[in-house]
Amino acid sequence: MFVFKAAVVGAGTMGGEIAQVIASAGVPVVLKDVDQKFIDTGLAKAREVSKDRADEILERIHPTLSYDDFGDVDFVIEAVPEKMEIKQAVFEELDAYTPGHAILASNTSGLSITEIGDATTRPEKVVGFHFFWPASFMRLIEVIEGDETAPETVQAAANFAQAIKKMPVRCGECPGFVVNRILMSLAAEMWRYQDESGVSVEAIDEYITEAKLAPMGPFRLSDMTGLDTGLKVAKDMVEAYGDRFYVHKGMEQLVADGKLGAKTGQGFYSHD
Ligand SMILES: NC(=O)c1ccc[n+]([C@@H]2O[C@H](COP(=O)([O-])OP(=O)(O)OC[C@H]3O[C@@H](n4cnc5c(N)ncnc54)[C@H](O)[C@@H]3O)[C@@H](O)[C@H]2O)c1
Repeated sequence: MFVFKAAVVGAGTMGGEIAQVIASAGVPVVLKDVDQKFIDTGLAKAREVSKDRADEILERIHPTLSYDDFGDVDFVIEAVPEKMEIKQAVFEELDAYTPGHAILASNTSGLSITEIGDATTRPEKVVGFHFFWPASFMRLIEVIEGDETAPETVQAAANFAQAIKKMPVRCGECPGFVVNRILMSLAAEMWRYQDESGVSVEAIDEYITEAKLAPMGPFRLSDMTGLDTGLKVAKDMVEAYGDRFYVHKGMEQLVADGKLGAKTGQGFYSHD
């Protein structure tokens, strides 16, 4: 299946850059959110990462607050908050507003593709399409198959990933899929250690970067990717697999205080 036009739903931490990736590969893309403020920051992010090609790339991104432009899309990527009820509501709407042949993909970090697909009349065309932060830079996309996903849908998603210059890996459905199952288990040990020892988050992040174990420590990375998203994924992993995963107490408190990291200006760190 050739993708002549794509759409991204949710212009937050992930959506703006996902739209940029698609537009920079030459495919027109509609970028929808429920709030103009997020459209504006999503477009600003897309402009920033596009550097000297910004005007040409931004011309292919069509921002909107409605589904009016979804009547001729071929491939949609949902990037709304990591909550099943929000995802299902969006998929029900997508099912109504997109043509029957369109593939409906979710950027979920670990929720069930089968359950998301249940909200539609075309579960065979629903697939996981999981980018990594920052989407404009990270090459990997996990293509996740739900119970009802048709093999042609998985193949079309893998082809589209390559068309937008990413590297698809196919994986089966389980909480956290492949990467978050590994990453969240690694992060869990660092979060647990911080809670138990009281060593500062700055010291742990500094140790990780000084030792060149990762380009960024776990607390700064959590700030950049969004503490509400990280907390929800950590809770889902504990629920699915038990105490080999961990929910960081400090992160829980920050989220309760509305401090969600870079997107709100304050998390473990200040982001002025
Ligand atoms: N943040 C990451 O590093 C990361 C990485 C990979 C995957 N994900 C996944 O991507 C998804 C989005 O995460 P995010 O970090 O970009 O979240 P975010 O909170 O930064 O952005 C979500 C956006 O969705 C919008 N939204 C909410 N309800 C909507 C609706 N009904 N229709 C349209 N837009 C709506 C919000 O206004 C917001 O702009 C989640 O499923 C998350 O697990 C996140």
